[in-house]
Amino acid sequence: MQIRTMTETDIPAGMRLKDIAGWNQTEAEWRIFLNAGRNGCFVAEVDGIVRGTAATIVYGGRFAWVGMVLVDPEYRGHGIGTTLLNRCIEYLDSIRVPCIKLDATPLGKPIYEKLGFTSEYELERWTLKRRKDDLPDRRQMGPDESMPAPLLEHVLQADREAFGADRSAILRAVDRARPHFTNSVWNMGRMEGYAFGRRGSFADHLGPWIAKDEGTGQRILDRFLSQSSRGVVLTDCSKANPFIRRIVQARGFEYSRPLARMFRGRNEYPGRPELVCAILGPEFG
Ligand SMILES: CC(C)(COP(=O)(O)OP(=O)(O)OC[C@H]1O[C@@H](n2cnc3c(N)ncnc32)[C@H](O)[C@@H]1OP(=O)(O)O)[C@@H](O)C(=O)NCCC(=O)NCCS
Repeated sequence: MQIRTMTETDIPAGMRLKDIAGWNQTEAEWRIFLNAGRNGCFVAEVDGIVRGTAATIVYGGRFAWVGMVLVDPEYRGHGIGTTLLNRCIEYLDSIRVPCIKLDATPLGKPIYEKLGFTSEYELERWTLKRRKDDLPDRRQMGPDESMPAPLLEHVLQADREAFGADRSAILRAVDRARPHFTNSVWNMGRMEGYAFGRRGSFADHLGPWIAKDEGTGQRILDRFLSQSSRGVVLTDCSKANPFIRRIVQARGFEYSRPLARMFRGRNEYPGRPELVCAILGPEFG
């Protein structure tokens, strides 16, 4: 097995592995990692064929995220995942990132625990499946208007507090790709919540989804559902949020799987998990 840094030409191999795992990412998401810093993105090759991937992204020097940890099912259980993770840690330690974070699937969690990661809080993926007749009428959807720049700045500023670090470069890319999913709720000049959304390979994905109260959370979800033309909608909810289960269940979402937010090092910037209805996604935090 050989570990090397990832390039654009590895994206099709990465897409193959994420399709096998049933994940929702598009090629654009691999590019976000590569553009953020390709020295922190790795592939594992066996006989010249990519059998594993892992990618990292550094958020403003506060912490880094590890995502896209995937190993070909036929090659699992031989240490490829652990070796890739070790390479990510080695790289992030070498550039002195004080904390490494990730959202672990049940398959990944035992590996991360062995490498010194500790659980911070739990997340849950919820999935909504809508029949064609229940989808919003495209003609009633608003035009693809962008959020005015000053408003977007407010949202990005608020996100630094909720998330714990600056990930505005990613959120700007998410907004540019699907501006009609970017949304904020205001009351008497104060922002009560906001959300972004992505069009994945098989589902629309709501997140980050931040709301100060249940009513705001509901409004954001209802607006997203009225703007999404897909039959499948996903969202990765924080279990620390007191009202999110009620909201998604009331709209017909079903529980899909658990995820564990984990960290290694000093977790000095945990953000405000109680404001988080849903994260951006396990690959980005
Ligand atoms: C999680 C994942 C990346 C692990 O990759 P991997 O190369 O199998 O990982 P490793 O071989 O380093 O470690 C797997 C552990 O399970 C054990 N294992 C044994 N047989 C196994 C098998 N057939 N399949 C998987 N794991 C097996 C390994 O022995 C090892 O435990 P150990 O360190 O105590 O020996 C891989 O299962 C995967 O791609 N899963 C789907 C996507 C996913 O959930 N990714 C994690 C995102 S957080």
